[in-house]
Amino acid sequence: MASGLRKGLATYGDAGFSLFLRRIFIKAAGYTDDALDRPIIGITDTGSDFNPCHGTVPDLIAAIRRGVLLAGGLPMAFPTISIHESFSHPTSMFLRNLMALDTEEMIRAQQMDAVVLVGGCDKTLPAQLMGAASAGLPTIVVPTGPMLAGQHQGEVLGACTDCRRLWAAHRAGAIDEAEIDTLSGRLAPTKGTCMVMGTASTLACMIEATGLALPGAGTIPAVLADRLRLAEASGVAAVRLAREGAVQSRFLTPASVGNALAVLQAIGGSTNAVVHFAAIAGRLGFKLDMEQFDALGREIPVLVDLKPSGQHYMQHFHDAGGVPRLLRELAPFLDLSCPTVGGGTLADVVTAAEEVAGQDVIRTSARPISTGGGLAVLAGNLAPNGALIKRSAATPALLRHEGRAVVFDGLADMAARLDDDALDVTAEDVLVLRHAGPKGAPGMPEAGYIPIPRKLARAGVKDMVRISDARMSGTAFGTIVLHIAPEAAAGGPLALVRNGDRIRLDAEARRIELLVDDAELQRRRAAWVAPPPHPGAGRGYLRLYLEQVLQADEGCDFAFCRAGG
Ligand code: FES
Repeated sequence: MASGLRKGLATYGDAGFSLFLRRIFIKAAGYTDDALDRPIIGITDTGSDFNPCHGTVPDLIAAIRRGVLLAGGLPMAFPTISIHESFSHPTSMFLRNLMALDTEEMIRAQQMDAVVLVGGCDKTLPAQLMGAASAGLPTIVVPTGPMLAGQHQGEVLGACTDCRRLWAAHRAGAIDEAEIDTLSGRLAPTKGTCMVMGTASTLACMIEATGLALPGAGTIPAVLADRLRLAEASGVAAVRLAREGAVQSRFLTPASVGNALAVLQAIGGSTNAVVHFAAIAGRLGFKLDMEQFDALGREIPVLVDLKPSGQHYMQHFHDAGGVPRLLRELAPFLDLSCPTVGGGTLADVVTAAEEVAGQDVIRTSARPISTGGGLAVLAGNLAPNGALIKRSAATPALLRHEGRAVVFDGLADMAARLDDDALDVTAEDVLVLRHAGPKGAPGMPEAGYIPIPRKLARAGVKDMVRISDARMSGTAFGTIVLHIAPEAAAGGPLALVRNGDRIRLDAEARRIELLVDDAELQRRRAAWVAPPPHPGAGRGYLRLYLEQVLQADEGCDFAFCRAGG
């Protein structure tokens, strides 16, 4: 089989001519014929001035190139879409599938024998993994890595759990304009991804647990020399995989994804990871077993003391031994026979894990951060296809709660009324946000962290039960039910809730219920009218997105991108 620059010829109807042309153009870049005989290692270049989380990508690519060359391969970096959370309109999630398509087709179209994915900000690693899962080449992931933590007035802090906490304090009048301005320069003090257990860190740690990245990939801070050494070693490993003709399906399997899900529970990770791994599984031809995932959550306590579930930051997790040390703690729940891209199995990673005397960030099951796991899967008449709650970031007293619904019909309605002192709301009510799902918003924004209405915030209310078909940033906290499926815009029961209805959350029983009888719900359903089309929905990517996007329980992937198409 053709390899290196001889594979995947452009179609001219004359293979010899196609190769001749390719040689001409590779020489235009200053390469020699020797290039034709090397294993080619593709490296995704997701550097962008719009993506500070990827600010170290040029240095990482240089280190990966060095590793590839040391191992006798030829590195070829190529650009793909880059997505940053704060610079993506309407949402980064809206663009995730576009990045997955771009990554898949560029891997497929260009001549590489293995690929190193360099990504980091929340949607980039899942998009890249979705694309690479479909493309099928041997793949190694090099996350950009987390930022170092910041300091303010003697307090250690960082993006973005503290961004939310401090902004809430500002809304409540406890922090003035001058201080919030100062804080904006201290919450993200270095390049890299958010340094709490948000979505970026969650995905990076889970990917390390699948064996698709080298040990340390999930936690080494972005600006440490160790991350460059990891990048160089990843380049070396990519050449070995290419030479072996390794197939990616050896590494991304139901068993390795199961290991990642066990880690997700133990790190109190982001709810978004469930959506992303549902999409990755769909690309591989299987469905996440949500019952099994929930059962894991009942058995695996949160063991890592990181914000938003705990106290520390990613550099502290790394210093305590990182993912390998955590895997040792989780060994009874893992399939340690899974192979890793570094060679060997996960068992070898666990054996080599560093013991750090006196560390208190990675706990034992006997002394967890919280019992009962990070995430719970809910069912009930409000969420026929499921919903999620991050128990570890919730207020324990609210995990069993019944209250009156206060409904917001989309983000504009919420923005217009939430802070109105005339809003009829008390701390015991349940805030409901709908039309914020995959189709409804569109792009399923991270709006599930509904702010506490200003008049209640001023009165000292810190948390309420909040439910929606939206997502929530992995850095956020509160008693918040997310990803209700089907969403309101697709006619899910959330669309039928009215102000004043009673809603009951029972996280222990895994239920979210609308306490309205079936006959009344049927009457409301008969009267339900689908929302009007979004402006601009008739053409372009928005049209493709709205026609193809699946619900949260299926990973919000495009239907035509799943395996078997
Ligand atoms: Fe990029 Fe948080 S905004 S990881």
